[in-house]
Amino acid sequence: MSLNPEEVVLPSRPELFDFHGVSMTHYFTDNWENIQNFQARPDDILIATYPKAGTTWVSQILDLLYFGQTSPERQKTIPIYERVPFLEICVPTLESGKDLADKLPTSPRLIKTHFPVQFVPKSFWEQNCRIVYVARNAKDNMVSYFHFDRMNGIQPEPGDWNNYFHRFMEGKMVFGSWYDHVNGWWKKKQTCSKIHYMFYEDLIEDTEQEIDKLSCFLGLTPSAEEKKMIAGGVQFDNMKKNEMVNYSSLPLLDFKISPFMRKGKVGDWKNHFTMAQNQVFNEDYKKKMKDPTLQFHTEI
Ligand code: A3P
Repeated sequence: MSLNPEEVVLPSRPELFDFHGVSMTHYFTDNWENIQNFQARPDDILIATYPKAGTTWVSQILDLLYFGQTSPERQKTIPIYERVPFLEICVPTLESGKDLADKLPTSPRLIKTHFPVQFVPKSFWEQNCRIVYVARNAKDNMVSYFHFDRMNGIQPEPGDWNNYFHRFMEGKMVFGSWYDHVNGWWKKKQTCSKIHYMFYEDLIEDTEQEIDKLSCFLGLTPSAEEKKMIAGGVQFDNMKKNEMVNYSSLPLLDFKISPFMRKGKVGDWKNHFTMAQNQVFNEDYKKKMKDPTLQFHTEI
């Protein structure tokens, strides 16, 4: 897919609406029937996340683990959104994620979704596919999503920070409530051994160790040297300047407002939350996050 930004008429910002109990926009529901009928293959790997939890980071790690040795040209020439299609995206002027996934020539196919667990097409479960879920602490996730919504022309207008802050707590975000998303997938993982649940904060703290755990889950045995190379290659500064992963080639995004690879930190929420907001947030969080086995780090 080659895109000339001058030829592309940008789609407009959509409205949120309730879709089977989840806030969504039409860009991710227009292709619903086709997506639900998607034919997964047993070796497909689904990368599932709430938006802004580190999807691109983990996608690049998986792509390198599977294809870094056999087809190193791939990472240098094909943008991440074509190597790892976003299953449910359906935006005029771009090929749909479902069509891109259908056409993927690789084995395995790496496929990305932001769906809450109950929206995942049934063939992924029937085929017993491996799923890598990445979660990020709510506060940083919210901040990252706010800046993303500012720069992304196919997301609803974010409005001001305080309004956004309240909307996030109410779950009125594209792909719904963060709380429902991370809990829904966590609950599913308890009965499904094919789900590997990872945390953005762990990746920041020890990328190599997380690559080890991922490899183990995937049944891969990269050499120590390979693991080191991957961990180095995917560090934030390298990802930020890498045009094949930093989304600079996607005309829907306005980098003059904010970069896609923005800060890549744990704890940036402290630069956004007021003391009063933090208190309100923490009180509300306790009520919504009742499962003591699911714990997040908001600083490291
Ligand atoms: P920030 O906005 O906090 O910087 P997604 O890929 O799910 O959209 O997530 C994007 C977030 O992950 C952004 O967070 C981005 O900077 C961060 N990110 C991407 N690659 C990263 C890396 N290699 N190291 C740390 N953070 C990374």
